[in-house]
Amino acid sequence: MRTQSRETSTTNASNAAPRATYERIARFYDLLDLPFEYSRYRHLRPLLFVGLGGQILDAGVGTGRNMLYYPPGSDVVGIDNSPAMLRIAGRRCAQSPALVRLREMNVTRLDFPDATFDSAVASFLFCTLPEELQAPALKELSRVLKPGGILRLLDYRRPSRGLRLLLTKIWEPWTKWAFGASFDHHPERYFAQAGLTMIRKTFVVDELIAMMEVKHRPGEGAGSNALLSNTAADQKES
Ligand SMILES: C[S@@+](CC[C@H](N)C(=O)[O-])C[C@H]1O[C@@H](n2cnc3c(N)ncnc32)[C@H](O)[C@@H]1O
Repeated sequence: MRTQSRETSTTNASNAAPRATYERIARFYDLLDLPFEYSRYRHLRPLLFVGLGGQILDAGVGTGRNMLYYPPGSDVVGIDNSPAMLRIAGRRCAQSPALVRLREMNVTRLDFPDATFDSAVASFLFCTLPEELQAPALKELSRVLKPGGILRLLDYRRPSRGLRLLLTKIWEPWTKWAFGASFDHHPERYFAQAGLTMIRKTFVVDELIAMMEVKHRPGEGAGSNALLSNTAADQKES
């Protein structure tokens, strides 16, 4: 009989909750997100793909809302661990200007060889990953990126003050229940151990939504992360 390590069984348990959440909510997801998609996300998604091309990984592809903005002629693999979300994404592939393939896969255990992708993106994935999966997910994304490859993350943050902070507190029980999402994850804490270096971090909606651009730099140790471009809000946060 195979013995499961404690680390693997913890990771499995942590993975099960988000998967169950998205299996439950998949058929309502686009409807629930519609006001945000039209007022906000559709303006942000194109930013994820500026200057990218070649082989791209879209991690946590969801219902495929990024597909319209994939760079024309690129070759994109979208992965997600929810079959129900992937079924909806499958209906959007034909609308994309890129060649799109979808795979059911966990971002913490990617079934791709090392150095497969020129770049990777993840939109609103890391806010749904439990804290103990943030580092394993980043390590996997780093592993499948080619040396020098770019990773872009688009995600929610907890604003430091004001109405935005209040609204996140009011919304929190709903976002936790419906999407398993938290405003309090900081994947950048794990960039160095995953062999990734921050290039740029920008708040694209006040202090609420951040875009981080990260580069794969094999061999770089902890403490080498350079924040080359900050907004005033970023500096306050750190
Ligand atoms: C908030 S949705 C975002 C979907 C899409 N990226 C977007 O921008 O609309 C988060 C997605 O991440 C997926 N997800 C969560 N945990 C995952 C994991 N461990 N591996 C792969 N996908 C995961 C969920 O199934 C869901 O489709």
